Amino acid sequence: MPFRPGPARRPGASLSQARSQYRGRAARYDLELLAFEPVRNEAIAWLAPRTGDTVLDVGCGTGLSFEGLQERIGPTGRIVAFDPSPDMLDIARERVERHGWSNVELLEAGASDAPLAGRADAALFHFTHDVLRDPEALDHVLAHLRPGATVLASGLKWAPPWMLPANLFVWGAALYSVTSLSGLDAPWDLLAARLRDVQLRERGLGGIFLMRGRTVGVHGGPARAH
Ligand SMILES: C[S@@+](CC[C@H](N)C(=O)[O-])C[C@H]1O[C@@H](n2cnc3c(N)ncnc32)[C@H](O)[C@@H]1O
Repeated sequence: MPFRPGPARRPGASLSQARSQYRGRAARYDLELLAFEPVRNEAIAWLAPRTGDTVLDVGCGTGLSFEGLQERIGPTGRIVAFDPSPDMLDIARERVERHGWSNVELLEAGASDAPLAGRADAALFHFTHDVLRDPEALDHVLAHLRPGATVLASGLKWAPPWMLPANLFVWGAALYSVTSLSGLDAPWDLLAARLRDVQLRERGLGGIFLMRGRTVGVHGGPARAH
């Protein structure tokens, strides 16, 4: 089924927190993330979308993943990217215009409200802790993936307790980036429980994880035609 956006479902109350968190940060976000780019590159390589695939970029922020995804999906593929922060999306939009990409759809929405329809081939959750802790958001995104679609999540996690420097870093970075620190011991667990063939990697002295899995079947019933 071709992938296309549908109408918005309903606004999420917690999204206003994310919007204010990233309002002042959007302009310097790309610079701040420079040190994490190797993790992004590994995440996209492990997600491994193929030519012509449609990829959901969940909580896409300023669109830092678009270039790596484009290299793999090519002009026949599509990126459906959504984020509740208009400030982050403004930068993502500039990036899309600068590159002349006509296959990127930008939606101002949270993961539980994004106006999606149809089923994509892959989903990337890169540094989106708040989304990973929201079962409703996960169900909504997974309901718009085809059976066997690849799902990749990456981000901060607590390192083992004896890795104090790593945990201090995770603590500081998480305070700055997420609305709740809960679930940082295994941020992937709610998503992993909804997938098969789950594999996990750790980086950054245990303070960073990457998790990949595949959708089990049709999640949440047939895709709705909006
Ligand atoms: C650390 S940034 C990561 C941005 C991007 N994924 C990247 O790789 O650079 C977290 C992003 O998640 C977004 N976000 C927060 N809550 C969200 C939600 N409920 N649904 C979707 N995105 C959300 C924020 O607005 C922010 O842009």
